Amino acid sequence: MLLEVLALVLAGAHFGTPLVYYGYMKKYAVMPWNIKTSESYRPRITIIAPTYNESEIIDDKLADLFDINYPHNLMQVVVVDDGSDDGTADRVEMWTRQHLDFDVKLIRKDAREGKRSAINAALQNVDPLSEVIILTDADAYWQREALSNVLSYFADPIVGCVTGCMTYTGRKVNFEESTYRSFYNLLRIAESKKHGTPIHNGPLLALRMEIIRRRGLPNYPGSDDSVFGSFVAFMGYRAIQAENVMVTEPIRGSQFRRKIRRANRLLLNFLNTKRYARNLGVYVNSPFDRIWKVEWWLHVVNPWLLVLSVALLAVGILFLASLAASILLGVGLVLLALKWYRMWVFQQVYLIVARLRGFWTKDVMWSR
Ligand code: GDD
Ligand code: MN
Repeated sequence: MLLEVLALVLAGAHFGTPLVYYGYMKKYAVMPWNIKTSESYRPRITIIAPTYNESEIIDDKLADLFDINYPHNLMQVVVVDDGSDDGTADRVEMWTRQHLDFDVKLIRKDAREGKRSAINAALQNVDPLSEVIILTDADAYWQREALSNVLSYFADPIVGCVTGCMTYTGRKVNFEESTYRSFYNLLRIAESKKHGTPIHNGPLLALRMEIIRRRGLPNYPGSDDSVFGSFVAFMGYRAIQAENVMVTEPIRGSQFRRKIRRANRLLLNFLNTKRYARNLGVYVNSPFDRIWKVEWWLHVVNPWLLVLSVALLAVGILFLASLAASILLGVGLVLLALKWYRMWVFQQVYLIVARLRGFWTKDVMWSR
């Protein structure tokens, strides 16, 4: 019986912790920002787009950026291509020649080294007058007003990083996925309003350039989205996901592989960034630290409570022929019919697989 009780306690802690956290945080989602935003703040900006084999969509991406309602004379675009073999760089060059009044800089790297190294190459080429840099992906679509809303937060010097709310399009997106996203986005916004969130989205991630000039950006494996936001947050700046910044991205290629890689990014962030900021001597204690601790627990430790609970029940069933264990495990499986529960359990599976996979790969380069 002890075994079954222990399994139940572990499962209770596993499911209870995030529920309590969500219940506590959700009120913050509707609170004011406590940030002095300004619609009229118009800094010079640089948009960085790393590309690898994007010839099919890169023209549309550049056209999107061209059409954004922001003065072209305040805007620079840097495309870093890693030796794509589908002619991406040539297309960029051709497009640029047809839009001479728009400042697009193309960096051609010879060999593929991954998104992180491409961002670093781009940073070397940022216009010295740029105050905000914005990372994006070739397949990301920024909704109208996303950019001007992002910049309005940067009017307040306390803001170091702003990311958008993601919605996904494409045939593999189902209703469950989108309900889960709305819960997920709400929590990120709540954390952001309290101080900052440790989780950020590469399709639109804006950073205050002055911080990067002073301190650089982390450059360990996995540093291509969340790590940047967390790093800036550890320095005491607000690193936020804003509800009026909407970004859409199509799901391309294998959804499963993508989820594992995304989970791997989160883990690399939670395992490294705080120590990195401390070692660099830039760590400042702020309310972000408490948010970080909970999210660290939820990503690094909490999934394993579920594994342990299931393992105990399995032992009970296989070696002790325990009826109670069979019932508990049975209930756990039947509950998979509930979409919220199922989404949650899948997320745990991604985190577990990513953690194990992390022992031999950091997904520096990926295929779709
Ligand atoms: N220069 C360069 N070199 N760019 C690359 C490379 C590379 O080796 N690999 C991918 N990219 C570019 C792609 O061309 C695209 O513009 C962007 O990086 C994102 O790649 P996707 O192929 O769209 O992958 P994703 O949507 O699964 O990426 C998501 O997860 C990443 C972290 O795992 C997004 O959220 C990314 O923003 C995030 O960094
Ligand atoms: Mn993508």
